[in-house]
Amino acid sequence: MNEIEIRRSIRRYKDIQVNEDIQQELIKSALLAPSGDNTQPWHFIIVDDKELKSKIAKVSHNQKWMKKAPLYIVCVADIRVRIKTDEAIDLDESTGLFELKQIIRDTSIAIEHLVLEATSQGLGTCWIAWYKQNEIRPVLEIPNDKYVVGVITVGYADESPKQRPRKRMEEVIHKNKW
Ligand SMILES: Cc1cc2nc3c(=O)[nH]c(=O)nc-3n(C[C@H](O)[C@H](O)[C@H](O)COP(=O)(O)O)c2cc1C
Repeated sequence: MNEIEIRRSIRRYKDIQVNEDIQQELIKSALLAPSGDNTQPWHFIIVDDKELKSKIAKVSHNQKWMKKAPLYIVCVADIRVRIKTDEAIDLDESTGLFELKQIIRDTSIAIEHLVLEATSQGLGTCWIAWYKQNEIRPVLEIPNDKYVVGVITVGYADESPKQRPRKRMEEVIHKNKW
């Protein structure tokens, strides 16, 4: 509960790198996530190259603050764990495939593991999903049958935002039936 309570979306970072052992710990935490039928559709691209980060920020609605984060973890879902034919698959935001929903669901669970482990390691993160598949994939040479579920900016926080409002329990809790 401690990491859950102290986590915030961080959009200002100190100019300090995240060492590789810690990067490995983050990925390790993601790999332990549950997934439907244990299919583990997730892949992670660790990006610390300045030019690539800049291009990712640009396709993410030009959110300039992103560029100062020392590290991005680009979290990608692979539909091939569920569709094993040779057919070409072109995924984007309008794809209605049930399997796409499944791989996004499972990869999201893994991403939140990573985010909470980062919090536990004293790091700040922010989820980014404000881009189009057809714009972000070419930047990192990701094939069209993969889906970028989120980009997580990672680094040491240079801000301490207040907790953003949350719904009250009474608004969301139901007993026995809807
Ligand atoms: C799927 C997803 C996408 C998000 N995309 C962005 C984004 O593109 N830019 C941004 O500044 N924050 C983004 N956020 C962060 C949310 O704005 C933030 O989680 C929310 O306002 C609650 O604040 P908190 O994370 O500090 O609790 C995203 C969060 C999620 C879960």
